[in-house]
Amino acid sequence: MATGMPVGRRRAGSLQIEAQPFRIHEDAPSTEDTEMNESASQDHEEAEQEGELLEEDGQESEYSESSEEEAPADGHFQHDMEKLQDSFAGFREKYRLIKRIGEGTFSTVYKAEDLVYDDHDNSWDLDKELDKWTPPPLKSFTSQASETPDYPSQSQRRRKPKYVAIKKIYVTSSPIRILNELELLHDLRGCQSVCPLITAFRSTDQVVAILPYFRHADFRDYFREMTVPDMAIYLRSLFTALHSVHTHNILHRDIKPTNFLYDPDSRRGVLVDFGLAERESVDSKPCLCHDGSAARKARLQPLYNGEPKSGYAREDTRPSRRANRAGTRGFRAPEVLFKCTEQTTKIDIWSAGVILLTILSRRFPFFNSADDVEAMIEIATIFGWRRMQVAALLHGCMMETTIPTIGKSGYSLESIILWSTNRSDKEKISEEERLAIKFLSRCMELDPTRRISAADALQHEFLRMGLDESAEEGSELEDDEEMNMLKV
Ligand SMILES: Nc1ncnc2c1ncn2[C@@H]1O[C@H](COP(=O)(O)OP(=O)(O)OP(=O)(O)O)[C@@H](O)[C@H]1O
Ligand SMILES: [Mg+2]
Repeated sequence: MATGMPVGRRRAGSLQIEAQPFRIHEDAPSTEDTEMNESASQDHEEAEQEGELLEEDGQESEYSESSEEEAPADGHFQHDMEKLQDSFAGFREKYRLIKRIGEGTFSTVYKAEDLVYDDHDNSWDLDKELDKWTPPPLKSFTSQASETPDYPSQSQRRRKPKYVAIKKIYVTSSPIRILNELELLHDLRGCQSVCPLITAFRSTDQVVAILPYFRHADFRDYFREMTVPDMAIYLRSLFTALHSVHTHNILHRDIKPTNFLYDPDSRRGVLVDFGLAERESVDSKPCLCHDGSAARKARLQPLYNGEPKSGYAREDTRPSRRANRAGTRGFRAPEVLFKCTEQTTKIDIWSAGVILLTILSRRFPFFNSADDVEAMIEIATIFGWRRMQVAALLHGCMMETTIPTIGKSGYSLESIILWSTNRSDKEKISEEERLAIKFLSRCMELDPTRRISAADALQHEFLRMGLDESAEEGSELEDDEEMNMLKV
């Protein structure tokens, strides 16, 4: 049995990732390049579309624990769970494994009861106070003539069980990547709507991250029923998380429904999975998109000799271009597809836009390409080849196509949504939907420098839907109270 070594431990407010670097041996060649990321993401996406990821119980709001026990893990996972428990000394005293809740490209995630909840700083726990469980009052048999029930003493009070998500990162993941995920989560501690890291353990090459368990529903089960105000609340929660992450100059890189755990009942969401996240401009090299338009034109002029050449050059002398393309198919921003070498936090805004497009169109997955070229075709079909060409030039790429279904001007987002929801032009888009589409077009700007930022998005009329009215109601109430005071 290997000895468990905590790599980060948070007690009373502070988490320390051990100053010592991990001494995890490499099980696979360290391929930190984008191809690995991309194929991993693709594998992941396939698993996700086959519906393997979520086994939500949805029973947890009850005080009873029995619902958790009703779904026993099958033999294979039982064996995996046993192995996990045996890998870390003292694991069984800290956590009671319940079941597997997710299996991604980089990890398996288990739900467990947290037996050491009180050892940690739980300021992230919004339900802390609500969760103090008090048994129903007992009728007093001892105090005669008293109709008032006895309330339980402090010792009788018991807290609802607390749960954690244990993310067992595959040993084939590169140690640098694992450290990166834990460090970024550590930097983001205390950020609104971002899943906090409670602690992490390492045993030889096995690392587990301990996260609070967040109850959530499967996106596929609720997105079709969402009203426009529901969408605004969902997106507000997502953009609150993005604002926190982007303020720290961190790109999440993998914004998609399975990485945003949303509970439609409480209407709260939390962003998870920083496995592909990175700090802005760490590895970036200058890209033309950051130059002014005049400078860009001057640099591009020599490349353009009037007519575009069709086909492939027999000997292409142009240097190959490398850029981070990590992310999930269908959610990659155009600049990722065009291999922009200076990607910014705006790539996450595009992906959030794809989520909104999915909800408005009631189609999941909305984009369904097999590779980056197909992804460009899908985007060009909507936006038209003119705009796509301009978007390509921004990053120094030329885009030419003879595909007949790609029109010059594409389609408006309104017509895409009407078609995908099987409505005719007569069944008009509602005013609320129009506002959502206006916001969507700001998220799906092909030019990242024009795309809305998370901070501005939170001020957009669509994301403020319902907020201003409730603020007004609040001030009316205050006015009424003042009137009442005057009456006294
Ligand atoms: N804190 C949490 N609370 C509840 N469920 C969680 C939590 N963290 C992760 N999960 C579940 O586990 C799944 C996989 O988690 P995560 O995305 O972090 O792992 P991953 O291996 O990087 O995933 P993938 O490759 O699927 O993107 C999530 O989609 C979610 O269903
Ligand atoms: Mg994930």
